[in-house]
Amino acid sequence: MSPADDGPWWRGAVIYQVYPRSFADGDGDGVGDIAGIRSRLDHLSALGVDAIWFSPWYPSPMADAGYDVADHRDIDPVFGTLAEAEALVAEAHALGIRTIVDVVPNHCSDAHPWFQAALAGGPDAPERELFWFRPGRGPNGDQRPTDWVGEFGGETWTRTVNPDGTPGDWYLHLFAPEQPDLNWDHPGVRAEFEDILRFWFDRGVDGIRIDSAGLLVKDGTLPETRPGRPHPFRDLDGVHEIYRDWRRIADEYPGDRALIGEVWMPDRQRFANYLRPDELHAAFNFDFLGCAWDASALRESIDGTLSAHAPVGAPATWVLSNHDVTRHVTRYGRADTTFSFAAKREGTPTDLELGTRRARAAALLSLSLPGAAYVYQGEELGLWEVEDIPYELRQDPMWERSGRVDPGRDGCRVPLPWTGDEPPFGFSPDGAAAPWLPQPADWKDRTVRAQTGDATSMLELYRMAIRIRRADPALGDGTMTWLPAPDGVLAHHRRPGFTCLVNLSDVAVPLPPHTERLLASGPLDDDLLPPDTAVWLRTAEPTPAGPGTA
Ligand code: NOJ
Repeated sequence: MSPADDGPWWRGAVIYQVYPRSFADGDGDGVGDIAGIRSRLDHLSALGVDAIWFSPWYPSPMADAGYDVADHRDIDPVFGTLAEAEALVAEAHALGIRTIVDVVPNHCSDAHPWFQAALAGGPDAPERELFWFRPGRGPNGDQRPTDWVGEFGGETWTRTVNPDGTPGDWYLHLFAPEQPDLNWDHPGVRAEFEDILRFWFDRGVDGIRIDSAGLLVKDGTLPETRPGRPHPFRDLDGVHEIYRDWRRIADEYPGDRALIGEVWMPDRQRFANYLRPDELHAAFNFDFLGCAWDASALRESIDGTLSAHAPVGAPATWVLSNHDVTRHVTRYGRADTTFSFAAKREGTPTDLELGTRRARAAALLSLSLPGAAYVYQGEELGLWEVEDIPYELRQDPMWERSGRVDPGRDGCRVPLPWTGDEPPFGFSPDGAAAPWLPQPADWKDRTVRAQTGDATSMLELYRMAIRIRRADPALGDGTMTWLPAPDGVLAHHRRPGFTCLVNLSDVAVPLPPHTERLLASGPLDDDLLPPDTAVWLRTAEPTPAGPGTA
């Protein structure tokens, strides 16, 4: 966030996502952990980020890499201890870095004590009310209560076995069977999560990332999904009441605690409803993440984002990658540069050099737009999607549940390369077990060590861009103005005196008049900006009669 911003930190922060399994391994078991994160905080400090979001680190059977939480108030032994998490929060704060934890309210693990009690207690167990247990359809109850399709593909109901061995009721799981959905109509569920928020706010964390934030409330009459009818579990109006309660809790704490929603919602108006002044502070911009590398599509996404956020007064967020999607170096190197889960396939021809060039330009674009920016671990190193993970090592449930059609999300979760010429590239200490997913040998050129001091590296581009962003009062939260530009070129201005130009056409274009070239994503050809390249310039203010403004 730039020093001139006097609003709350979350309006203009650069937020770095740590995926703990894959960031750094301190104890040598091949899986990243809190000790590893603590030992590498200097990397995040040198990068200049304002905050770190930690993906789930709670006790979990890891059926969905920790998004199946058995206890939100502790840390899984594979990651460390609660005392270590507290020390990490304190150490980050000492470096001026805020912290955000991930809370998963839509579902829990099947190992959660509530679910275990619901199963063990049989059909009359009161704990069943905390979930969605229903009898099956058909004379023997052997047909699912609904035909809803799950978020990972496949069925959403699993039949239980009664304590006496007879077939029992079914329970709902929008994700894997190991992730039973909680019943948010039950006051006990609401009270539990309000307490979990306080638990982490009491430990000093600055924000909560809310998993699957639009799915919590279900239509209890369990209708089938039908075109033109309200959806039975997506974006039901009742969900907003939950976030109003959560906002009141966040507001009770000093220091601008933030609630950040994972809201996949193509309808921008419905998306913005989550960001009303008494609800969430921010939400991830998946519209921008999934957008094609195309000037008019990006301009439409940026304009649509800003105009949806403006009426509710919330800052936009700019996200290129996360632990669920194909890394953007790979996406941008393909003929189809959009992202969608449905279209995810292996073996798509990919030009990584082109993808990397575009990813560099995209970094300068997203770090220059008004609002907060997210960096997914490894994007600052230019990592690509690893597509040749042997089948037997793949761990993401999407892979098996899609009948091995969707390659899953392991390819963006491969452990980070830090130093050295061969795996594990400093991810684990010497003599450790192999990393939980294999790293490509080619990542020897992508380590933090190899890129440090190399002015042409992705890492130094990110460091420099974030440094400029922190110092420049034009960047971070605020407004922008589009400038006239040739076809296929995006040019926007931020007051005072900052212009970003991104060339998405296939010809070089001249730079506008400027007093200083602040940063470029690639080499310039004298005063020409080559294709797939972005530049930040110090410029005069545009004349007020410019065309579109946002
Ligand atoms: C969204 C998370 O980002 C993803 O990784 C997870 O599988 C699902 N929610 C279910 O918790």
